[in-house]
Amino acid sequence: MNEAAPASIPWLSVEEEALRPVLSADGLGVGFYTDSGKRLDVVQDVSFALYSGRMTALVGESGCGKSITALALGGLLPRGMKMDRGRMKLDASASAASVRPLAYVFQDPGACLDPVFTIGSQIREVLPRVERAQAAVRMRTLLQTVGFEQPDRVLASYPHQLSGGMQQRAMLAMALAGRPRVLVADEPTTALDVTVQAKILALLTELQRKENLAVLLITHNLGVVAEAADDLLVMYAGRVVERGPVGLLKKPCHPYVEGLLKALPRVEGNAGRLEGIGGWVPPLGRRPPGCAFHPRCSLARAICAEVVPEEAETSPGHAVACHACRAREGWK
Ligand SMILES: Nc1ncnc2c1ncn2[C@@H]1O[C@H](COP(=O)(O)OP(=O)(O)OP(=O)(O)O)[C@@H](O)[C@H]1O
Ligand SMILES: [Mg+2]
Repeated sequence: MNEAAPASIPWLSVEEEALRPVLSADGLGVGFYTDSGKRLDVVQDVSFALYSGRMTALVGESGCGKSITALALGGLLPRGMKMDRGRMKLDASASAASVRPLAYVFQDPGACLDPVFTIGSQIREVLPRVERAQAAVRMRTLLQTVGFEQPDRVLASYPHQLSGGMQQRAMLAMALAGRPRVLVADEPTTALDVTVQAKILALLTELQRKENLAVLLITHNLGVVAEAADDLLVMYAGRVVERGPVGLLKKPCHPYVEGLLKALPRVEGNAGRLEGIGGWVPPLGRRPPGCAFHPRCSLARAICAEVVPEEAETSPGHAVACHACRAREGWK
């Protein structure tokens, strides 16, 4: 295995290298092809960049295309779907330094682990060309990195012998075994007990820092986003509607993002009351023309039903795709 650090690029200054994304997606589009050959848009014109040591949160209601966007990055799309628009670029030095530059952790660790093999043999699979004794040392270190104090016991365990939180730690160890530069975590804590959720998130943040990982975190929990993420991408019906540094949550522009925030249970005042957004995310093939959010939007105007809004940058790095915001704020 290539243990060498990624070679630096001679023609870039240190600052430029730090600003270079590890992974960039430019105008990604994913289509679902029906049996009759019709193409339905699943993800449309999605662009973003992930940076080493930074966490980008991807949020949006169920069915907005978060998981499909994440799966497209690793070429893991479900049957019938194709990433056939736009392009994705993984930094060359990242791919050179990793066995698996892009690693995933999913919602249900129990379903991802094979019940008939020990954790040890499943991690070993990610270390194919490492000699036996060296692999044993590496596996122990990996398990310690994810917080196991007795790695040997875990290596010899079968998945059912571990709790949900321990299984997710084991999945993280497996993800790290390939020395990834990008870690995609798709609702990594949703299936876990509330008490364990915070620990797994703290571990994720720690790994991001220690291993200098670019993390893409998919979550429904805006509280977690505000606390842990650096950057935010909000998707609605397959498109990014607002993006920027996570601080934008204090003053979002897009009515959809305002709605998501209002849907959070209030801690003070009318405690526990949900002020959700009315209506539902449209299913594939039934997305309305123009801005797909317009039927649910209190600020909708005639143009919203006709023209897909382009992104406008409101401040450096903060961009919004909304006709009403554009008119309200007077952006060009
Ligand atoms: N295997 C599949 N076959 C057909 N359509 C799918 C498949 N997986 C997802 N879809 C559809 O693609 C769209 C985007 O789904 P996706 O799973 O990316 O949503 P999501 O934002 O991750 O939602 P959730 O928060 O529920 O995980 C949805 O309309 C969904 O129904
Ligand atoms: Mg999903």
